[in-house]
Amino acid sequence: MNYRHAFHAGNFADVVKHALLVDLLAHFKSKDAGFAVLDTHAGKGIYELNAEEAQKTKEWRDGIGRLIPPRIAHGAALPDVLTPYINLMRRFGAPQSYPGSPSVIASLLRPQDALICSELHPDDAAALARLFRSNRQVSVHHLDGYRAVKAFLPPRLIGRGLVLIDPPFEKTNEFDRLRAAIFMARRRFPASVVAAWYPIKHRAPVREFQDMLIETGLKKLLTCEFLLNPPTDPTRLNGCGLLVANPHYRFDENARHILEALAPYLQQEEPPEISVRWLVEA
Ligand SMILES: C[S@@+](CC[C@H](N)C(=O)[O-])C[C@H]1O[C@@H](n2cnc3c(N)ncnc32)[C@H](O)[C@@H]1O
Repeated sequence: MNYRHAFHAGNFADVVKHALLVDLLAHFKSKDAGFAVLDTHAGKGIYELNAEEAQKTKEWRDGIGRLIPPRIAHGAALPDVLTPYINLMRRFGAPQSYPGSPSVIASLLRPQDALICSELHPDDAAALARLFRSNRQVSVHHLDGYRAVKAFLPPRLIGRGLVLIDPPFEKTNEFDRLRAAIFMARRRFPASVVAAWYPIKHRAPVREFQDMLIETGLKKLLTCEFLLNPPTDPTRLNGCGLLVANPHYRFDENARHILEALAPYLQQEEPPEISVRWLVEA
């Protein structure tokens, strides 16, 4: 396991993923019934951006560093649609510290909700367990995230929830594993929303992943994509996507507004290309 998220925390892809995640969680909180979140590839939960790893790549500077303080060509105020995400980041001390997905999720839980995390890297799993040792709503497992889908779904006692699958894409078959995990999560836990992050380097593997997902017969599959550069150079992260299976009503509209609001801040040479579209609508 070579991938360490500490090198990438707070980069544009984290901003895109976590801004959409905050909106997904807000929908769950609009009803009183409790919800459970399974975060299959959880990371270590909090990242210091002045630490050696983050300073080495400085990726966060073109991510959260563009939003706090807001930096945009014409100095416009941050759009309201980003307020829930930005306020949360400020609470965690961004851009000095950046919260990983388990911290984002845990901070938004109500007493009736729960978070289950799995993380395979022993150091990150141990750090995450320490972070949440006194939080009884959060359980941390040193476990393969794909096994966690089988082990923890459906959750006990809680009837609805979110499954976040955010693999490191170190292995050549990661798109296959991701497709199988999305399918298994939706089958084992029908009252779930599944959000799966993927990199966009070049188009071919993404298209193949999406075609294979359509072939599973799953319904309500939405892709939210954010491209910083044309997806033509397979050696660099040109963009990213979040596949959301069974999203809430009107999540597609919210997602488009969020990505459009982020675009001018995260822009590199050209305006980012944004796409929110249904692979399978009903
Ligand atoms: C992209 S990072 C996750 C970031 C985190 N979800 C966030 O948004 O803050 C991927 C994580 O998966 C972990 N990992 C790698 N292979 C794994 C596996 N098979 N099961 C669970 N975790 C794994 C890595 O150690 C890394 O921390």
